[in-house]
Amino acid sequence: MTRIAHISDTHFGTEEPLVCVALRAALLRASPDLVVFTGDITQRARAAQFRAARAFVDSLAPLPVLIVPGNHDIPLFDLLTRLVAPYRNFHRHIGPDLAPLWQNSQMAVLGFNSTHRLRHKNGVISPAAVAFVAARLTALPQPCKIVALHHPLASATAEDIANCARGNEAAIAAWSAAGADLFLGGHIHLAYCLATGAAPHRVLAANTGTATSRRRRGGMANSFNLVELAIGSKPGLQITRLDYQAARGEFAVAHEWTGLKGPQGWAVAEGGQGLPPTDKTS
Ligand SMILES: [Fe+2]
Repeated sequence: MTRIAHISDTHFGTEEPLVCVALRAALLRASPDLVVFTGDITQRARAAQFRAARAFVDSLAPLPVLIVPGNHDIPLFDLLTRLVAPYRNFHRHIGPDLAPLWQNSQMAVLGFNSTHRLRHKNGVISPAAVAFVAARLTALPQPCKIVALHHPLASATAEDIANCARGNEAAIAAWSAAGADLFLGGHIHLAYCLATGAAPHRVLAANTGTATSRRRRGGMANSFNLVELAIGSKPGLQITRLDYQAARGEFAVAHEWTGLKGPQGWAVAEGGQGLPPTDKTS
């Protein structure tokens, strides 16, 4: 079993301090193999906001954290920096790599930078990037391959189609054919899990909400997802959304999805069916 936690859109600068405390406790309690952090780390890419984010990430030690930038992590109003050195503060406070890779024997998580200095909101995946990531996925030996990026590749609602990364359809087709099992995204502060793409390479797309920000969508709670992989006779992915419950001051299980792989690729059961029993110990 490999377990990862997926957090996104913390928007430090607009964070809720009590939610940050609860998120840290929930992540340490879950003790995942990896924390995946899909961008919008900060509200305005300012140094103080990155410092607060860095302190939060450091407070998760010893958990490893894989981080990719979101559109809020490049400057909005400082146009010169935006054009010349858009990732300057990300590099200073988070790290040198905008597309890191994490792997164990069962799972590979490949980060992808979907932001662009000329786009202050929308993400983009160029044809060259589609091909580059597909080649990296093909070369990875793990039975489960995940791509983590800020902008969603597939939307659960009609209103969010415009918020998907440009080039998403080509990316879904090429990356699923190259062996991707799951795409992780954020950006729209909405949690969901669905299957997308064409058979026999149907692939899962799981989005998570804002983990800590006041910028909650439609009164939804702050949330993050746990992703558990079991590999046995039937590969399974369990995705669990945990919502912040203010009255309890902690994150608690709110919804589950079960992904199962069949002849058409991946399919999702809403509500969660639990992973196949024989797979739970694998
Ligand atoms: Fe975003």
